[in-house]
Amino acid sequence: MEKWNIDDLSVGMLVEATFWANPVQTSDFRFRATHLDGRRAPKVVLCDDMRIVPGTPCRVRIKAIKKPAREDRGSIEVEFDRLMEFRLDGVYLDPVVSKKLQVLLESGLNILLDGPQGCGKTVTARSIAQTLGMEFVFFNCGAVIDASDFLATIQVRASESGSPVTDFTKTEVLEALEDALESPEKRYLIFLDELNRCPESARNALMPALDSSRRLFHPIENRFIRIGDNVQFVAAVNRGGEFSATFGIDAAQLDRFAPVQMDYLPADEEVKLLKSRHPELSEAILKRIVSLAAKVRQAAEISGGLSVRATDEVCVYLKHPLFAEQPHKDLPEILKSSFCGRFAGRWDDVTTDAGAVWALIQRGATKEA
Ligand SMILES: Nc1ncnc2c1ncn2[C@@H]1O[C@H](COP(=O)(O)OP(=O)(O)OP(=O)(O)O)[C@@H](O)[C@H]1O
Ligand SMILES: [Mg+2]
Repeated sequence: MEKWNIDDLSVGMLVEATFWANPVQTSDFRFRATHLDGRRAPKVVLCDDMRIVPGTPCRVRIKAIKKPAREDRGSIEVEFDRLMEFRLDGVYLDPVVSKKLQVLLESGLNILLDGPQGCGKTVTARSIAQTLGMEFVFFNCGAVIDASDFLATIQVRASESGSPVTDFTKTEVLEALEDALESPEKRYLIFLDELNRCPESARNALMPALDSSRRLFHPIENRFIRIGDNVQFVAAVNRGGEFSATFGIDAAQLDRFAPVQMDYLPADEEVKLLKSRHPELSEAILKRIVSLAAKVRQAAEISGGLSVRATDEVCVYLKHPLFAEQPHKDLPEILKSSFCGRFAGRWDDVTTDAGAVWALIQRGATKEA
């Protein structure tokens, strides 16, 4: 979203802001925010009210705009109005999970989001960052082979003389860690997706970043770098089919995170989400899709989850003119690929998960007929 124009802000206006401790320790204001209503503020936003809880959005009233004409100076002083519920745009978050996340974010603990495939771990992390005005860095741990991959990619090329030279390219994680040290006023959320998918040795190298040592080995400069207090780590793990107790993550590694369990959205919320994305479809068909998805997710004999991507994909088919004429009739065939196709085996082999899903879909169809 674009930055506020100073002329669009005025004294008395009510806006939403999320405050953090003011890094300028000599300031009269203990709290500082960078965004108003989710848009970057033209000046730093200051408040000194002790009712403010760092990391929790609150409603404030603009009290004064200092030095409005100067690009590089001035501030926006605000009065505390009230704390807001943690609310993420376009993302459904379970109220209890929301409270837990709020507490953890506030205390700066590393968070581990644990939930089935496609239940919204990534969108949640991304929208937390957006809501709180944090820089979001997405890092796919599934692609990590070696410990240094977290921070740099290495390329070997021929020099002019023909001898091999090694080039290091910083990853976005390293860039963020370096930026964070230079810009204490910004906050960074580093999202480590699929943390359970990278080799244990590589994960081990990450451990000092996640405990009180807060440092990491810089493979390009051959030294340790400090991790600023303005960096927060959120990792996600996906249990997929394997229901092992620790999803392959060593207990000592796991212990460095506060685990938070996530689950699929409740059926009525999933219907709402799909309706907002596919308004062309009737509520009746959306309910049918979601109720079948819920059955698949709950079935004890089927291992692994069924992503919200699957229900979304079904809607993409159904609203297309090729299928739009008789959506209820075509639904089973679409589910055959969008649901059954996400499981091991084949729809026509009842001994496989895909076959079990197909059996569920057919049972659902007969009941309705
Ligand atoms: N609670 C939710 N609120 C809004 N959208 C959701 C929610 N859960 C899932 N979705 C939608 O489902 C899709 C998958 O979500 P997302 O990628 O966040 O899941 P994930 O848990 O990270 O999946 P994976 O385990 O595969 O990494 C996205 O299109 C997302 O918008
Ligand atoms: Mg994800």
